[in-house]
Amino acid sequence: MAYTSPTLNVIIAAARKAARPLVRDFGELENLQISMKGPGDFVTSADKRTERILIEELSKVRPGYGFLAEEGGTAEGKDKSHRFIIDPIDGTTNFMHGVPHFAISIGLEREGQMVAGVIYNPITDDLYYAEKGHGAYLNNKRLRVAGRKELAPSLFAVGLPFLARQGHERALAEAAAVMKISSGIRRIGAASLDMAYVAGGRFDGFWERGLKPWDVAAGIVLVREAGGMVSDLNGGTDMLAGGTILCANEYLQPQLLKLLKATWPDKTSD
Ligand code: IPD
Ligand code: CA
Repeated sequence: MAYTSPTLNVIIAAARKAARPLVRDFGELENLQISMKGPGDFVTSADKRTERILIEELSKVRPGYGFLAEEGGTAEGKDKSHRFIIDPIDGTTNFMHGVPHFAISIGLEREGQMVAGVIYNPITDDLYYAEKGHGAYLNNKRLRVAGRKELAPSLFAVGLPFLARQGHERALAEAAAVMKISSGIRRIGAASLDMAYVAGGRFDGFWERGLKPWDVAAGIVLVREAGGMVSDLNGGTDMLAGGTILCANEYLQPQLLKLLKATWPDKTSD
């Protein structure tokens, strides 16, 4: 049986409500792809509307909680100990290109610790959720990280930089290092879902630099509750503010950390 709680229920309800118009927008995009102007403005307004609905719904049921949200819906609440960390569309580029791999991602932080996470792909209707101490789930199924102990049979997800992002050379060097000793890497373009896939054992691990707190907040709870380890790329716990993440099971996480650190030993950036 899947675990539910009042906290998870309200987050899930908000995600489902915000998802409905988003699914309609995704259908509309097909027509917009061919226009000269492109879907940029349309996607921005879908992103903003999704965030607005999430904040409205969550504020009704948890008045006073603070918000940190991608599109600027950042607000300190009266309740200083709770904060929702929201990515209205994680995988925006996929969304814009009609690729059905994106998610609404909502994390709940309590006293500086991530305690609940919901990641919802509205197109596949895959709902990932976890609350600290109560396990991680996909729909009604309990999630568990993969059990592989060696890098060779393992499949990893990575996030790579693109136009206007820093760190291209380093990212390529790290990807090359992992490609050589593993069963391969995937870059499927939504950090929250990369983490959900690690929680469910589809990917053996995931790493990325240059992230924002809303990319990983919910995923941190998912992976931990599925029995995995999450750190930043220095091996510390500064995943939210530090902008880097590495997650895998307890065997692979230290091996991957060592390998990635060795890839860029003397330089601080590219
Ligand atoms: C992006 C996605 C992508 C990752 C980027 C993120 P966005 O989030 O998670 O997979 O590589 O670093 O910025 O912009 O689509 O919400
Ligand atoms: Ca994101």
